Parts: sequence; structure tokens; C-alpha cells
Amino acid sequence: MTLKNYSIIFPTRIEFGEGVIESVGKEVKALNAKSAMIVADKGVIEAGLVKPVEDALKKENISFVLFDEIVPNPRDYNVEKGSAVAKMAGVDALIAVGGGSSMDTAKAIGVLLTHQGRINDWCGENLLERDITPVIAIPTTAGTGSEVTPFAVITDTVLSEKLNIFDNKVAPKVALIDPSTILKLPSKIMAACGIDAMTHAVEAYTCKIATPHTDAFALYAIELISKNLRGAVDNPDLENCTGMMLGSTIAGLAFGFSDTAGVHCMAEALGGRYDIPHGVANAMILPTVTNYNVVADIKKYAKVARTMGVDTSEMNEEEAAYASVDALEKLCNDVDIPKMKEYACINPDDFEELSMAAEKNVSTKDNPREVTAKEFYKLFIKAYNK
Ligand SMILES: [Fe+2]
Repeated sequence: MTLKNYSIIFPTRIEFGEGVIESVGKEVKALNAKSAMIVADKGVIEAGLVKPVEDALKKENISFVLFDEIVPNPRDYNVEKGSAVAKMAGVDALIAVGGGSSMDTAKAIGVLLTHQGRINDWCGENLLERDITPVIAIPTTAGTGSEVTPFAVITDTVLSEKLNIFDNKVAPKVALIDPSTILKLPSKIMAACGIDAMTHAVEAYTCKIATPHTDAFALYAIELISKNLRGAVDNPDLENCTGMMLGSTIAGLAFGFSDTAGVHCMAEALGGRYDIPHGVANAMILPTVTNYNVVADIKKYAKVARTMGVDTSEMNEEEAAYASVDALEKLCNDVDIPKMKEYACINPDDFEELSMAAEKNVSTKDNPREVTAKEFYKLFIKAYNK
């Protein structure tokens, strides 16, 4: 095996298992923090998932405020409002409870508490000048992987584009991952988040900057998600929810330290324009882009198919590689992800502009097959007509 030199570090400590949330008070204390802000959306609060966090903080006599102005695809102004609230309360630790939106909002608030200017000023690669206010991440969906990733995705409302902060300094200090938090997740959210996690794993494995370390995580995540997503959507129990939580976090370690690729470039363009759930946007694109990319790495895509449980014994390697496209499409269909045409807001007249936005995405360069706005446009049309 010949390899280019690479460097890798996983900055987040992971505590995994039932009941780990109860240690959040002790974790805040260990950070020498005196005042925390819980960042959680209203749905998570109503589901009762914030209550054990509040109880644990009270037990350790830690004062806290709650910031619940969280929206899907968080905007720059949400982050700015959260940071103003945190400054007023003298917050020195952030506790994100929820999915990617809560965790990305908390990370971005952490940036603004320690850096001047607007959040948009810090979007880009390794621009942060110092550590941010520490974030403890408590995921309550199995998809985003944001609890272990070194980036935050924020929508710039002036440009109507998603911008990324890439920096190990935005990775949470600690992730408290309890699989029982997703037992009561609505099936539509379980499905969309699960496909997001699968997309992370497939793109991490096949992107140009994948490494043996991230491959190991990505393949195991593909296996876990393939085995557990259907059950977690149709009949959630602790076993399949543990499989999904492990799958999404491990996929987070894979793409967080390699990259995503063309599917996310297009899905983020769609999400920046239409505000559709991120996992749904990925699912709309995943089979089409995978079909485009297969030719770039037959071996790896054949491995994806096998890892998803496809019997490829009667196939040649190329057929096995293309079997990954069908397996991914079948998974999206089995968990009832809507098609692009079912979203009336999606207008093909916008595809030219969305293709240019996709091309500008920092992950475009890591797509396994070269892709420009011209190809993205064709892929948008193809995905729309599926
Ligand atoms: Fe994603």
C-alpha cells in the first residue's frame, strides 16, 4: 500500500451509553465554567429531553439560561441573537441539546463569544484565532454527527447560501451520546437524519481526501446504518437506536476528518434556497450523484454495496459498484423519503443558479469524480426527473 502522509486528530471526548446525560453537570464543572447556556429547539424541549440536563445542572449548582430560538438550517441572525443572550448572562459553557441545527448554532455562538465581528467573518477554513467557549454536545437525532465534527454550517441570509466554519476549535469538547434519546423520534425525522448519516459515510469513504482512518469509520458506519435504519424508522427499540446513534457518530468521525462530496454540495445549495430538511435534500440527490461518481472508484463503490449487504458474488466488480446506487436508492425508498417533485417549492428554473452555488462549495474539490457547475446542472435535472 502506498500512501500520502496525513495527520489526524479527534478533538472530542465521547461518552456513549444510556444515562450519560446525567453527567452534564459534572462535565460543566470540569470545564471550570460557572454559567451555562442550553441551546435547544422547542420540539426537543417539549419532548422532555432538556429536563434531565436542567436537573443535572441544578444538582451541581450551575446557573444556566435556555436559548430556544433554533431553526432548521440555522441563520446568521439566530447565532447573533444567541450570542447576545449568552453575553448578557455571562455564559462560559454551551450545552447543545438536539440535532445539527442546535449543535451548529451552539458552536457558532461559541465562536462569536470569543471573536469579534459577525459570524460570516469566521466562515472558512482554520480562521479562528483562539479557543471558543466550550461546547458540550448532546445529540437527540442520529444523523448530523455534529457532536464530533470540527465544523458548523450556517446560512448567510444575505447571500442565501450555506457557509461553513472549518476548524478543530469548533469541535465540541465533550459529546454525551445516549441512544435512548432517539427512541421516540418521529419516523420522518429518523429517516431523513439516517440518510444524512449514510451520505456522510459514503461520501467520507469515497471522497478524494479519505484516509485509512476515516475509511475504517466510514465502512463501519455504512454497515451499522444499513442494518438499523429501516428498523429504527418502522419499529424503534434500544438495539436499532443504539446502532443508529453509533452509525451517525462514527460517520461524523469519518466525514469530519475527511470530507463530504458532491451530494452535500448539491443538498446544501438546495437547503440554502428552499429550507428543506438537510437529510431529505441529501436523499433526493444521493443515488444520482453516486451513479455519476461510481466510475471514479469502482473498487470502493463495490465495497459500499457489499458493506450494505448486497450479494455481489455473481457480479463483476463494475456491476457490484453500480449495485451500490440501487442499494442506496432502495434504502431511501424503504424509509419513505419524498421525491424532489413532491416539494412544490423546488423550481427547475433555479437549477442553474443552484449549480453555481454547488460548484462554489468547498467540498466540490473532494468529489471522487471531477464535477463543475455544468455537471451539477445535469445532475439536478436528473434527480428532479427521478
Ligand atoms: Fe450532512
